[in-house]
Amino acid sequence: MRDIRLDNITPTVLDSFKGLPEARQRLLVQALIAHLHSFVKEVQLTHDEWRAALTFLHRVGDMSNESRSEFSLLSDVVGLSSLVDLLASSPGATPGSVLGPFHTVGSPWFDNPAQLIQGNPGQPVVLRGRVCDTQGQPLSLATVDFWQNAANGMYWQMDDTQPSDNLRCQLKVDGQGCFEIVTIRPVPYQIPTDGPVWFDLVQPAARGSWRPAHFHLIVTAPEHRTLVTELFEQDDPYLDVDAVFGVRQALIASYQEVSDAAACQRLGLAGSRYTLLEFEIRLSH
Ligand code: BEZ
Ligand code: FE
Repeated sequence: MRDIRLDNITPTVLDSFKGLPEARQRLLVQALIAHLHSFVKEVQLTHDEWRAALTFLHRVGDMSNESRSEFSLLSDVVGLSSLVDLLASSPGATPGSVLGPFHTVGSPWFDNPAQLIQGNPGQPVVLRGRVCDTQGQPLSLATVDFWQNAANGMYWQMDDTQPSDNLRCQLKVDGQGCFEIVTIRPVPYQIPTDGPVWFDLVQPAARGSWRPAHFHLIVTAPEHRTLVTELFEQDDPYLDVDAVFGVRQALIASYQEVSDAAACQRLGLAGSRYTLLEFEIRLSH
């Protein structure tokens, strides 16, 4: 192609990728290029702007490694991660929400009810869940992978003062699809503010860095779609300004105070009252 012009560059580039053997990959690459070309034409991108964008992406890459992905954070703060979650959510099922950077595979298996407090400071709470299908039938073979932050806002991976695997577990639900986790109330948390995503993009937009307090859950059951989601609490001050757009109305629950001495004893809690967050999780096929 020896005469590339404004009017033929896009189809020429698209055509150059027609040899990609896998149809889905071909679609993704060609559609992305078509959208990028449209964007550049729409905003009449200048050389300086193009170079600044590449420098920004370089810095994002330089800051990314196995334990800290500035690229994931970029995807989160522009709502891409949440958009993919929303697209993957099915009607009638509990909506998905961001996985975030602090999930690690291989959490320790706990008996149900799981006792996670183990010396953690903070307000003791019980998360009681019921896993069912979209018709409300219990899924007795479901498993739950759970993680959250500690009272100082940090996840165990970022904080030398916490023991390994602090405040995370996997467990199996009971015959009615139910599970209980005795833990502490999570606290609001700030996205990383030491990299180019914060300095060049989020802060200049006068946006905040906070995420509302949340529990993370991955729920699986045979022949059902795995759900990656989060649970938020009703009174959190950051529900409307989540830096990564993870909040969904259906994922907001309220704590209630329960008076039940027998339940406290069964759950290993002192006294006769406890704070409960109860939630139903619906999985689709
Ligand atoms: C989190 O859930 O902890 C999280 C999610 C996205 C970016 C940073 C943190
Ligand atoms: Fe989180």
